[in-house]
Amino acid sequence: MSRVKFVQTDGTESVIDVAPGVSAMLAAVRNGVSGIEGECGGCLDCATCHVYVDEAQLGALASPNADELELLGSVAATRKPNSRLSCQLKAPFPAETLIVYIPGVQS
Ligand code: FES
Repeated sequence: MSRVKFVQTDGTESVIDVAPGVSAMLAAVRNGVSGIEGECGGCLDCATCHVYVDEAQLGALASPNADELELLGSVAATRKPNSRLSCQLKAPFPAETLIVYIPGVQS
């Protein structure tokens, strides 16, 4: 089973099991992880599922597609090289536990 570790800005961590094909965004919303809104339900239309992927894991993930890259330009928090939209990060992940940091604002 893949897992995602969500790290809040205050360092609080939540580790959630994620079934194959399920996104990190859905796992967060279904389990009440604060800071991930996912307003559009994962159809690349809102940018409220922004996360910063652990830098050591970033290179192992599939690169963002053109639509995700474009929408990353609309995130509310600072966009960084490790910014991703968590609705596009689906299990299984390259590592058993994907580590993502939740930005302070989503909208
Ligand atoms: S949930 Fe809307 S872009 Fe990810």
